[in-house]
This record gives sequence, C-alpha cells and structure tokens, in this order.
Amino acid sequence: MHHKVAVIGGDGIGPEVTEQAHRVSAAAAQRAGLELEYTVFPYGADYYLEHGVGIEPQRFDEFRDQYGAILFGAVGDARVPDMAHGREILLGARFKLDLYINLRPIKLFAPELCPLKDKGASEVDMVIFRENTEGLYVGVGGQVRKGSADEIATQTAVYTRKGTERIIRAAFNYARQNKRRSVCMTDKANAMRQGHELWQRTFREVAAEFTDIEHFHLYVDVAAMEMVRAPERFDVIVTENLFGDILSDLGAGLQGGLGTAASGNIHPNRCSLFEPVHGSAPDLVGTGQANPMAAVLSAAMMLNHLGCSPAAERIEQAVVDQIVAGETTPDLGGNLSCSEVGDRLLARVG
Ligand SMILES: NC(=O)c1ccc[n+]([C@@H]2O[C@H](COP(=O)([O-])OP(=O)(O)OC[C@H]3O[C@@H](n4cnc5c(N)ncnc54)[C@H](O)[C@@H]3O)[C@@H](O)[C@H]2O)c1
Repeated sequence: MHHKVAVIGGDGIGPEVTEQAHRVSAAAAQRAGLELEYTVFPYGADYYLEHGVGIEPQRFDEFRDQYGAILFGAVGDARVPDMAHGREILLGARFKLDLYINLRPIKLFAPELCPLKDKGASEVDMVIFRENTEGLYVGVGGQVRKGSADEIATQTAVYTRKGTERIIRAAFNYARQNKRRSVCMTDKANAMRQGHELWQRTFREVAAEFTDIEHFHLYVDVAAMEMVRAPERFDVIVTENLFGDILSDLGAGLQGGLGTAASGNIHPNRCSLFEPVHGSAPDLVGTGQANPMAAVLSAAMMLNHLGCSPAAERIEQAVVDQIVAGETTPDLGGNLSCSEVGDRLLARVG
C-alpha cells in the first residue's frame, strides 16, 4: 500500500508536535509495510502574512485527488487576530473535503490522569461522533443595526436529512465494526423542536437497522452531567456540531487534559485530516514543554484511516507504556522535552 500524506504544522507548538507525529508514524508505517510519502506544507500565520492567503483553494483539489491524509498541527497567532488563515485552512478542509465526521476518542491511558475519583481505563473509554459540516457552523445569520442599542444578531443552525443520517449511520457502523455495545444520541429536542426533531426521527430510523447495537437518547445537559457522574454509561456518542464540540472537550478533561486528546476530521475512504485537539499554545513556544502525544495519537488515527491498524495499535501501546513509565512532558508529570518524548516513542515503535 502507498499513500501520500500532507503535513501542515501551522503555528505555535503545531510544527514541534507535528514533527514528532510525522517521524513516529513514518516508523510505525514502515514497520507494518505501509509506504507513506510525506510532503510538508508551510501553511500558517507566517505564510498568510507573506502571501495574503491561508491556503490556495486549489490545494484542496490536489489533496482530495492525490492524498490519503493530512497531518495537521494547530493554528493561532496573535498577528492574525481574526484567525482568517485558520478558518481558510481548517474550515476550508472540513467543507471542501466534506469531512463530515469529527471523531474524538476519549480514552484514559492511566487512572492517575483522570480528575474523577475511582474511575479507570475501563470506565473512561468512549468515542464521540460530532457532525462536522452543519449546525451553527455553516455561518447563516446576520447583524442588523450593529453598534446601536437596538442591535440584532441571528445565527441559524442548519440540519439536513442527508447530513444527519450519514453521521448517525457512521456512528452505528463504527459501533458494529469495533464491537461497541451502544450508541447514544444527544440533542436538545425539548427546546430546539425543529432541527432536533429531525435528529430524533433519523436516529430512531437508523437505529432500527442496527438491531445488534443498543441505542439510547439523552438531552445534552443530562449527557454532560452523566459523562462526569458515570462515564462508563457511554460507548459511542453521536451528536450535532456545537454539542459535539463542547462534549468532546469535556471528554478531553476526563482523559487527563489536552496532552493526549486526538481527533480526526474524516470522510470514509477519502482524504481526511488528523489533528491534536489542542491549539497553538503560545505560552509553550520555545520552552520544549509541548506534549507531542496528542499529535502522535492523531497520527495513529490517520494510520487506521489508511487501513493500517497494526501500526496504529503499536503507537497507542507505545504511548500507554511511556505514560506508565513516567517518560512524559511536564503536563503529565514528567520532565522530558517534546523531542525527547518523540525519541522514546520512536524507539518503542521502531
Ligand atoms: N485546532 C486548532 O488549531 C486550535 C484549537 C484550539 C485553539 N486554537 C488556537 O490556539 C491559540 C491558543 O489557544 P488556547 O490557549 O485557548 O488553547 P491551547 O490548546 O493552545 O492551550 C490551552 C492550554 O493548554 C496547554 N497546552 C495546549 N497544548 C498542549 C500540549 N501539547 N502540551 C502541553 N500543554 C498544552 C497550553 O499551554 C495552555 O495552557 C489560539 O489562537 C486559539 O484560537 C487552535
């Protein structure tokens, strides 16, 4: 198997952590017999300030037609306060490559990382399927009488049958393929009676096709409480864009913070983008303290997407072993630098 991979480090700690993800994933892929050809692209705030564009729009055509995946770091730089370049790159990829699944595994790698009392790896182990192309993020709305006392702002959520059905179906398919027991759909249909009624109805219809998978529904406020009170209730969660954004950060908290929180922006069998959940962390730039594990675990998700699950599993196991051995950056209690963590992961994987 041969795939092209685009590497975009972005801003702040993005390039540092992505470099480690690049070399660890290359070693794991090589060992598993997967041929990956990486191309590094310079997109980020520097590129935007120099060229006036975050990314050339035609680049997405190239990614879609020629690349298997994009390995992404983070964007965010004080010199671009409106984040114009970040939106072009990240929202551009989500919409132009139609990456409708935002996949966020919530997995506790060591019990001491969890802020909850008496919860271990078997209790905190769920996967969130966040719809990634609709809801409030499509940008429908406007402002009237801006700056006056009578100002009005509207932001309209958009839900389509097609968009709702495909993410719910993806969650059930994932549950079946990965031997997960249940799928929970969470919404706010009691208050958002139009859009979320569509979600409820679609969920019931799709669930009826997957009789081997349990399914249940929770309103999002209850789901947030239950994730903290009894995370073991959850296996696969499927939800709309904004709620998925919020719940997956709650999940990152349960697994011990941003240092190990990985994500994929996915269209099955097409070029997809993999990135750590964290941002560009300007406070860590130049300190060597950025934890590369979230980026490395995102690269493992990429290898899974490219059909090489043994390489992905090898990376995950290396991360677990390394956390247990205390060979981590300071955010996880260790005293290694970003590149030293990368070196040791490389040794474990290779
Ligand atoms: N997907 C993205 O590219 C993305 C996501 C979130 C934020 N951002 C942007 O990043 C910039 C900074 O945002 P922020 O400070 O709110 O969020 P952040 O995720 O960059 O940082 C939040 C906190 O977590 C710590 N942290 C983050 N990543 C870490 C890592 N790998 N290892 C150890 N500690 C880590 C930081 O030091 C900071 O204290 C902003 O411009 C924001 O818009 C980008």
